[in-house]
Amino acid sequence: MMHQKPTLAKTTTTLFAILLFLHSSIALKEGQICVADKNCDSGLHCETCVANGNVRPRCTRIQPINPTSKVKELPFNRYSWLTTHNSFALLGQKSKIGSVILAPTNQQDSITSQLNNGVRGLMLDMYDFQNDIWLCHSFGGQCHNYTAFQPAINVLKEIQVFLDSNPSEIITIFIEDYVTSPKGLTKVFDAAGLRKYWFPVSRMPKNGGDWPKVDDMVKKNQRLIVFTSKASKEASEGIAYEWRYLVENQYGNGGMKTGSCPNRAESPSMNTTSRSLVLVNFFRSLPDVTKSCKDNSAPLLSMVNTCYDAAGKRWPNFIAVDFYKRSDGGGGPEAVDVVNGHLVCGCGNIVTCKANTTFGTCQLPEAEATPPRTAARDTSFGIPNCKPVYLLWSFATTIFGSMLMAL
Ligand SMILES: *[C@@H]1O[C@H](CO)[C@@H](O)[C@H](O)[C@H]1NC(C)=O
Ligand SMILES: *[C@@H]1O[C@H](CO)[C@@H](O)[C@H](O)[C@H]1NC(C)=O
Ligand SMILES: *[C@@H]1O[C@H](CO)[C@@H](O)[C@H](O)[C@H]1NC(C)=O
Repeated sequence: MMHQKPTLAKTTTTLFAILLFLHSSIALKEGQICVADKNCDSGLHCETCVANGNVRPRCTRIQPINPTSKVKELPFNRYSWLTTHNSFALLGQKSKIGSVILAPTNQQDSITSQLNNGVRGLMLDMYDFQNDIWLCHSFGGQCHNYTAFQPAINVLKEIQVFLDSNPSEIITIFIEDYVTSPKGLTKVFDAAGLRKYWFPVSRMPKNGGDWPKVDDMVKKNQRLIVFTSKASKEASEGIAYEWRYLVENQYGNGGMKTGSCPNRAESPSMNTTSRSLVLVNFFRSLPDVTKSCKDNSAPLLSMVNTCYDAAGKRWPNFIAVDFYKRSDGGGGPEAVDVVNGHLVCGCGNIVTCKANTTFGTCQLPEAEATPPRTAARDTSFGIPNCKPVYLLWSFATTIFGSMLMAL
């Protein structure tokens, strides 16, 4: 009896290894059981969402669809962008000053990785610290060794490298601004080589009008929009004061109450249409990596709809979350795709927008558009549609999963 279990385990592991090898050429779709990120189709990764009862890892979305891949000629305020709250506060990061960081963390991967995954809005807290500008969290407006993440220039340079190598992408930075040193922000943006991408305040609509079109912004290379939380810096440094152009709902727990979408204190009320842009925050007061996958799923979509109503039937241009890669399926990227569907082509999801066609012309998703019998051959959803190797794969992961549980 004693020797039987290890033998079974060994056989199963071997079978599993063979299948993993066979499988390496097949990309799993959203929601399918996986073992590693590389099993999943592009734009997905392999993760559990225990908070929602998904204890077995599944392929979940980490990238939205780039809305300009469908239509480029719309004003900037007709698109929605995935935005990371405290983009710089990375899980497990040590302060560049060498001390342990005692501040909460909100994201899992570097700014470069976030940008490569399609994040286009970055929320950065900037402070004077060590005769420089640092990304930091505060107690009483002061940056401390144990809340200082890194000098802002490091991250701004990552942004510059991304803009250099992606000539049609636009990035928006939201600065929670504690910088008081003279021209502190101007100096650090210049030093990072970002001046050449600066979108000028003079081109921002002041009375609820449309923004310039994205293809025009790209042509003029004005691909970096920067907002500050300090009103005076618009006159002194040409950095746009955020709430002159944008309405924003309450952040933290106060912004997560089902069915209500109040504005944050600094923002005009959500229905103020003299502000052309709408930002929806949806994250806890204390970031929670475990619960974020649940937050970023159905509750996020629900809040986006609530805020659409509160904002006078306007969809959010920015959707800001913690741990943007975490969800039980589509997550933040899917919320952005849904909103872009409405904004770009008047359809329920950007997936169904036809490139370059009239607003309101929606393309049915492939599975629905094709007759069921053809669909059965083309898709991998549902047992009858599965290729044999998928069935084996599914079988193997089940056995492997059970083994892991049993051991
Ligand atoms: C903060 O870190 C710097 C550099 O390591 C050090 O010189 C300074 O003494 C530290 N300050 C405190 C209050 O620990
Ligand atoms: C706008 O929203 C506020 C609440 O934030 C509400 O009091 C006001 O009546 C709304 N105005 C319109 C025109 O709907
Ligand atoms: C849409 O139009 C742009 C030019 O305006 C063109 O570059 C692109 O190829 C078009 N896409 C499709 C799918 O027709």
